[in-house]
This record gives sequence, C-alpha cells and structure tokens, in this order.
Amino acid sequence: MAKLVIVSNRLPVTVSVRGGSVEIREAVGGLATAIKSFLAATESGKTLGFDEVVWVGWSGLKAEHETEEVKAKLREMGLLTVPLTGEELQLFYEGFCNSTLWPLFHSFTVYTVFEAKFWESYLQVNHKYAEAVSAVARPGDFVWVHDYHLMLVPGMLREQAPELAVGFFLHIPFPPAEVYQLMPPPWRTALLDGLLGADLVGFHIHEYVNNFLRSVSKFLGYRTEAGMVYAGRRKIRVGAFPISIDFDFFHNSSEVPEVERQIEELRQRLRGLKIVFSIDRLDYTKGVINRIHAWERFLKERPEWRGRATFILVVVPSRTGVPQYEAMKREIEREVGRINGELGEVDWVPIVYISRFIPTPTLLALYNIADVALITPLKDGMNLVAKEYVASRRDCRGVLILSETAGAAHELVQALVVNPNDESGIVNAIERALGMDPEEQCRRIKSMQERIRQHNVVKWGVDFIHALALAYNDNLMSA
Ligand code: UDP
Ligand code: G6P
Repeated sequence: MAKLVIVSNRLPVTVSVRGGSVEIREAVGGLATAIKSFLAATESGKTLGFDEVVWVGWSGLKAEHETEEVKAKLREMGLLTVPLTGEELQLFYEGFCNSTLWPLFHSFTVYTVFEAKFWESYLQVNHKYAEAVSAVARPGDFVWVHDYHLMLVPGMLREQAPELAVGFFLHIPFPPAEVYQLMPPPWRTALLDGLLGADLVGFHIHEYVNNFLRSVSKFLGYRTEAGMVYAGRRKIRVGAFPISIDFDFFHNSSEVPEVERQIEELRQRLRGLKIVFSIDRLDYTKGVINRIHAWERFLKERPEWRGRATFILVVVPSRTGVPQYEAMKREIEREVGRINGELGEVDWVPIVYISRFIPTPTLLALYNIADVALITPLKDGMNLVAKEYVASRRDCRGVLILSETAGAAHELVQALVVNPNDESGIVNAIERALGMDPEEQCRRIKSMQERIRQHNVVKWGVDFIHALALAYNDNLMSA
C-alpha cells in the first residue's frame, strides 16, 4: 500500500516557545485550511487507498529551539519537521520566498527584490526538503508538494527518487510571462525545470495554467498543448484545480452551540447596526488600505449610513520580518485612527479594527452575522474567506462584494464583483449591498452555495490525486 507524503513549507500547526513553555496552534492561511480539511474528509487518505499520511514541513521555530520533545510531539501527529536556521529564515523564507517570489507572482513588481544570496539559500533549503522527503518515501508512494517555497523540490526528487509519483500544486497566481520574465534567466529556467520534475502541476484557475504554459514554451522551448508539457520523453500534465473548503462544516456552523451563543451575544452588542466585515492575513496583496479608503468615502458620500453601519476589519499578523508587512501595519493603524477620529461619535465607531488571530467559533459567528463581506484583494490566488462566508449563510442572507482579481471571482459570479482600485465602484457596491432586498440576497447566496457545495475541498484533493495517478502511470509506461 502506498503512503501519501504532503510537503509544504509551513506545517498545519505553528509552534512557539513562550516563557519556556511550548505552544502549538493552528497555522493561518488557505493552504493549511484546505489540506487539513481534505485529510479529515478522506480519513487521512484511507478512502483514497493510502495507508498512511506524513506531512513534511517547518514547525515555525528556529532550528535551535526545535527540541527532541517538540519533534516527538509533532511526530505523534504525523508531522515531520524540517529545521530551518535563523539565517535560512532570513534568506530563504523572508528573502527569496516572501521578497522575491510572493511579490513577483502577485505582479507587485516594484516590491520584488532579486538577491543572489536569497537564491542560494532557496536552492539549499529546497535540497533539505527533498532529502527529508527521500528519507520517508518509498517507490510507488505519492508525494504532493505545495506552493512557491518549494518549486525546485519536484525536480530534485525526480533525480533522487525517480520512482515516486510527484505532484505539485501552486497556491498563488502564476504571473503572465512578461512579469515572470523579470526574474533573472538562470533562476527562472531552474524554477520551471524544478516544477517539471513533477508528473502533474496544478493551479487554481485556467488563467494561471495558461500563464505557466506560455512561460514554459517561451523560456524552456518545450512543446506545450492544452494541459500538457512535452519535456524529452516525459509528459507533464498541467491543470486547473480550484481549491475550496469543507462546505458542510461552514454550512452547519450556525448550529454549533458555541457559535450560536457568540452569534446571539454579537447581535445584542451590535444593537441592530449593519455589519460590513473582512478578515485577511496582513498582506499588501489583500488590498486592505484601498478597502479602508473606499469605506471612508462611502461614509462621507452617504452620510445617512453613519451611525447605522460599522466595518469590522480583522487583520491577522503575518510575515512580520518582511519590511513591507511592517510598513503596512503602521499605515493601517494610522488610517483607521484618522478615520475613527474624524468621523466617529461617542456611541459609534466607523471601523472596529482587530489585529490578531481570532478563534474559529468567533470567525464563524462573524461570518454568520455580517450583512456584507467586503473582500477586495488587489491580487489573490483564490481567497477561501469569500467561500467560507458564502457557505456559512444557512439563513440565505448576506452579500459578498468580491474583487475580480481574486481567483474565487471565476466561480462566485453572483457576488457583486468590483475592481479593487475602483473606489467609486466599491462605494456603489457597498450601497447596493446594504440596501439589497432579502430575495435577491438569497438568490445570489444560494447559487454560489450550490457551486461551493459541489466544488468542495474533497473534490479539489480527489481530482488532483486521481489526475496524479494517471500522469504517473503514463510516465511509467513510457519510461
Ligand atoms: N483564518 C483563520 N483565522 C484567522 C484568519 C484566517 O482561521 O484569524 C483562515 C481563514 O478562515 C481561511 C484562511 O485562514 O481559511 C485564509 O485563506 P485565504 O485563501 O483567504 O488567504 P491566504 O491567507 O491563504 O492568502
Ligand atoms: C498563503 C501561502 C501559504 C502560506 C500562508 C501563510 O496562503 O500560499 O503557503 O503558508 O499564506 O503564510 P506564512 O508565510 O505564514 O506561511
């Protein structure tokens, strides 16, 4: 029987040491949420025929703090750690991953830093991951590598252990070839070659698939066709697998006693105010500043809504070691303070700002009471928050305002779709959302729920694993 090895930079939990005691908490982000839900729904891959799942990744600690006790605790949970030193965290994680690949792939070209020492560290750390995988994987096992941190790992595994089935899924956009071209040539070809070590490469939507195929033919000269790259004797399948959520978990959330209690409590405390809500990791791609400014303009141009609606803005700290993230935090705090100072009243604040991780029952209660979810990323691979909000509304109420630049907009077409830079468009959408009659809300929510119910996280994972099995067998036969 085969094993499924999941490989991602960050494990689904993040470990920290505070005052000598070890704290293990859930990791934030779409990757962790989706894979955890997929594994839970397939009984750790058993319903797909795997006899074991191992997850290889980083614990969130610096290597020197990763004690035997921590490692053993994680091993009991099926998690194998790859220790990263302080220097690697700086050059690999904050450097090449989050100062080169993350901004470039989201088309934030001016934020992108190209540094040879970042690239060196990326190579070295990808080797570490490939070795950690080789140590646990046996011929015939399935290795599923995730996200931009580990784009070289499939190619390294192809060299070290050619008899593994290797799949890769990118959780962020793949940029147009003209943007990808900004990457120095030796790095950009190595990254593409690295990905093509996999039997199957998956993206969220067709647009990213097409961008990738164009880069492969432009920079590597390989023949490509819809869904396929021909690299010598190997064929690499490439496809769109829109990531999703555990629909039932969110849809049933309002019936969980603790969530129900918090919904009641929030309703009492908010005294009939209309609620506009958003939650994101603190990231410049999420368009938080644009959103705050659109809300300010809405309150200035539609003063009749002052005192009647409030914006609950939750921003969860992320990648605090990268300068742009720190700068953005300060800017959000300054702008929220200014707007609350200018427009607030003794009994009303325009923006309720929360800058910390919020526990799941609170998040679910907020999804359930928010009249409007205002989700306006400048660029987002998918955006699971949009799907979670829609799925949570068993009462068939609520309006989703969503950027056309989020992958999710390709599926959630009954949202009020906006351009994140079109401030007056967002202002109009907020007005329309707050005034939308219940029938229209229900019609829109219902058809989006149908889509998410069918295209849920299990479908995402199962479709990927099945396509990987086909691609692997194809390559075995032609080897
Ligand atoms: N999330 C959470 N708690 C928080 C903030 C976010 O559990 O305090 C989860 C959220 O429910 C969602 C994920 O983090 O599942 C964010 O995924 P998304 O695709 O929207 O964005 P990403 O962070 O991956 O860019
Ligand atoms: C996004 C990325 C994930 C990442 C998550 C949180 O969802 O696609 O790979 O884990 O953000 O970011 P972090 O840097 O904290 O792992």
